[in-house]
Amino acid sequence: MSDSIAITDIEQELEGKSPHSIMRYALEHYDNIAISFSGAEDVVLIDIASRIRPDVGVFCLDTGRLHPETYQFIEKVRQHYGIEIDVVSPDGEAVRKLVREKGLFSFYQDTHKECCGIRKIAPLRKKLLEVDAWITGQRKDQSPGTRADIPVIQDDKAFAREGDRLTKFNPLANWSSEEVWAYIRAYEVPYNPLHDRGFISIGCEPCTKPVGPGQHEREGRWWWEEETKKECGLHASNIE
Ligand code: ADX
Ligand code: SF4
Repeated sequence: MSDSIAITDIEQELEGKSPHSIMRYALEHYDNIAISFSGAEDVVLIDIASRIRPDVGVFCLDTGRLHPETYQFIEKVRQHYGIEIDVVSPDGEAVRKLVREKGLFSFYQDTHKECCGIRKIAPLRKKLLEVDAWITGQRKDQSPGTRADIPVIQDDKAFAREGDRLTKFNPLANWSSEEVWAYIRAYEVPYNPLHDRGFISIGCEPCTKPVGPGQHEREGRWWWEEETKKECGLHASNIE
């Protein structure tokens, strides 16, 4: 059986299972696995993991442009769960060159692609070389244009080491925002205070704004760009 068929089989087995069951599968089958934590409601992943394998690796991509509240929240989570969080910085020289040549807000002029490439994608690529699998908080309901079909387990060809495999788990894929928030309330999970101020989806400070009644959460991200482009490249397979 080829590897890709195996992933499809596992996908069938896991589809429809609870986030807890998917996390259990991921943490039991992959020793070298890490949770990709954005500092938003994906804290649920850390809470679930704390009940299964509390020492699992967690990393945040520190773009240097997160809200102060998000930095404080990341620290709160670190202390609350007593875990190590690998806060990954972008390459200093690459950031310096971008800012020197194009300023601090180039994304409003020529899209978020270059800045996200330097501040998020390159550091993610480097980080993922260290692991065999990663876990994200992506959900289908987060972005109708790009995430409606994400599976709970994927063969991540975009970030795999050459000649090797990288497995990506999206345990919350089938949960709605309401289900995530019901979990946060029920288990008294700490959350980013920006959520109480109208922010639903949280990314970098200059590229995220609160949304009003009736607006989709994705409308608060890179709002000056087309809906179809609202992926920064962390989840490259969503826009292939
Ligand atoms: S993004 O691609 O548009 O920025 P989004 O904010 O929806 O992603 O988050 C989806 C998932 O991507 C998060 O649950 C998390 O797993 C991962 N992610 C996003 N931003 C970061 C970050 N700064 N650090 C680590 N993981 C992140
Ligand atoms: Fe840069 Fe905005 Fe992308 Fe953050 S979200 S890395 S500030 S373009």
